[in-house]
Amino acid sequence: MLLDTYGRVATDLRVSLTDRCNLRCTYCMPEEGLSWLAKPDLLTDDEIVRLVTIAVRDLGITEVRFTGGEPLLRPGLVSIVERCAALTPRPQLSLTTNGIGLGRTAAALRAAGLDRVNVSLDTLRPDVFQAMTRRKRHQDVLDGLSAARAVGLTPVKVNAVLMPGLNDDEAPDLLAWAITHDYELRFIEQMPLDAQHGWKRDGMITAGDILTSLHTRFALTPESDDARGSAPAERWLVDGGPASVGVIASVTRPFCRACDRTRLTADGQVRTCLFAREETDLRAVLRSDASDAEVAELWQRAMWGKKAGSGLDDPSFLQPQRPMSAIGG
Ligand code: GTP
Ligand code: 5AD
Ligand code: SF4
Repeated sequence: MLLDTYGRVATDLRVSLTDRCNLRCTYCMPEEGLSWLAKPDLLTDDEIVRLVTIAVRDLGITEVRFTGGEPLLRPGLVSIVERCAALTPRPQLSLTTNGIGLGRTAAALRAAGLDRVNVSLDTLRPDVFQAMTRRKRHQDVLDGLSAARAVGLTPVKVNAVLMPGLNDDEAPDLLAWAITHDYELRFIEQMPLDAQHGWKRDGMITAGDILTSLHTRFALTPESDDARGSAPAERWLVDGGPASVGVIASVTRPFCRACDRTRLTADGQVRTCLFAREETDLRAVLRSDASDAEVAELWQRAMWGKKAGSGLDDPSFLQPQRPMSAIGG
């Protein structure tokens, strides 16, 4: 079991498969990209499967989510999913992606055993998409979304970040569109995890702003705390249901007390939290011929050191050394 000193148990593992991405979202990374991890530093497919096996078999992980960077850029993704789906007990398997290329790979991923996907889409307007991601790939994302729904990677969730002056007027339109297409929409507050360190609390769109904007067109009823469990998203029923909308308010309504996550970076470091400043090097241990039991013990020790929360409200808060694309979203 992955227990921490606050009594929380991690059952959800997020595995970053690459730090690279084919978009350049302005709230994430600069136009020129970042200095990517070198191939020998990345965990191999076998190393990833071994760590997931230890996590599922020995440490009580029941849900595995693949992230990035952009995880569809990882050549071995389908086979990694297939091998993880063959584990006992069978973990729930999901993917967080920007959707580019999902149109081509959704069926293979579903056949390999992927259960569901979360796709990032911040805007319905192609020109705004280009301004926000610096790439003309809006239609690719829409195609990826419909392919995911068609092959049953459901519920398909859509993640949207609102940025002032770009898409902050789009919340009601995005929700109406998501309901029509049977996607579960969640808005995410912008977090201080960008490579450029440009985040400012008073420049971000808050959960309060988003709800005010949605209320202009929809009646929202909050879901019960019991139904939420450890999910980062708070959810509201829209116009009496069954459609719903979520808000992931990491900044203004943190949910660290219920956190059930542990993370693995693409270069094999365990992180106890998105905002942690420490990492534990599992890759070095794996490559030193350690036994599975030794790896498991080191992972447990790392989680025991998990802090109470993100520390975002502390005056001494410092952004993690690595940006979100290198940590895993
Ligand atoms: P499900 O609800 O299981 O579908 O997944 P999710 O919402 O946890 O996953 P997803 O990868 O779609 O993440 C949505 C947003 O939540 C992203 O911006 C993540 O960075 C953020 N997020 C995920 N895990 C954490 C966490 O542990 N802490 C915080 N603060 N944010 C998180
Ligand atoms: N703050 C909030 N969300 C972010 N994402 C990427 N960077 C940030 C950030 N700094 C979002 C992506 C994607 C999800 C995994 O995280 O848009 O939807
Ligand atoms: Fe790529 Fe996601 Fe960063 Fe956008 S937010 S540049 S899709 S890693």
